[in-house]
Amino acid sequence: MKRIAVFTSGGDAPGMNAGVRAVVRSASSKGLHVFGIYRGYQGMIEGDIKRLEKANVSNIIHRGGTILKTARSMEFMTADGRKQAAESLSAHDIDGVIAIGGNGTFTGANIFYEEHGIPFVGMPGTIDNDLYGTDFTIGFDTACNTAIDAIDKIRDTADSHNRLFFIEVMGRHSGYIGLYTGIGSGASGILIPEKDNDTNSLIVTLRKAIKKKKLFSLVVVAEGDESGGAAHIANKVQEEFPQFETKVTIIGHLQRGGSPTCADRILASRLGHAAVEGLLEGKQNVMAGIVNNKVKFTDFKDCITKSKVPNKELLSLGEILAMG
Ligand code: F6P
Repeated sequence: MKRIAVFTSGGDAPGMNAGVRAVVRSASSKGLHVFGIYRGYQGMIEGDIKRLEKANVSNIIHRGGTILKTARSMEFMTADGRKQAAESLSAHDIDGVIAIGGNGTFTGANIFYEEHGIPFVGMPGTIDNDLYGTDFTIGFDTACNTAIDAIDKIRDTADSHNRLFFIEVMGRHSGYIGLYTGIGSGASGILIPEKDNDTNSLIVTLRKAIKKKKLFSLVVVAEGDESGGAAHIANKVQEEFPQFETKVTIIGHLQRGGSPTCADRILASRLGHAAVEGLLEGKQNVMAGIVNNKVKFTDFKDCITKSKVPNKELLSLGEILAMG
């Protein structure tokens, strides 16, 4: 293996740049030539590929977003698009590729590998932390810290006015951000897709809170919760408790930006180095993850088909600590 490429794909996540830097520096130190593919699979199809040297990744470890840009490519979902992508890679004599992204990225990589046999190693990059094969994904820790910072501020104003706030965090299909930020911000309720019937138990908790004369509350809602999101649940609770003044805050894409935390920089650096070593050892069609603080490679097939559910202990901790 002499020439490898790296790209970022799907939703950006803080720490992706630290991952690109680690790939470039680690591969260059082993004598490999590294290329950056810009704009994800779309750039691969269009041949938007440029050489990346060690100096090109200076001064990026602290930056959110991705210097390689990202995209969601419809064209790559077609066999023709993937054929063009394979031609672009072979025009640059690329022997192996490192893909940084989430479920959609590895679903694409898996089909591409089956059709064209180009070795791919993945790195988990998504704020949602919903990938099987790694305890944490790059960007999750930063997104949680950004959300907690916002929720702490909301707590100040909620306390001053005795209001009930519903705060919606990201996670289209996953409650990891909701669970972690809910526990970390001391929320009175945490509504996530992995817990059924959480609207009813929230109403019970709020009733108890009223009895104890607890005057304000924060409820964290994952955007993917079956209740339909923070605005929806706020209306329902308002009907039940007309005496509460309810307010809704959707943190949204704020959670995707910002400088990565130390934990995300370390995770991205470890995985970038591991992905390069994996490619050199002949690993293909696998994602590098960290499980129990050790690097582990998991088949793309398992990463995209097996689900990772939040730890039961944390789920019940969220409920126990919510009762003030
Ligand atoms: O990055 C993951 C994620 O943030 C989801 O939680 C969210 O629903 C989605 O991406 C939104 O992304 P976009 O606005 O880029 O489609």
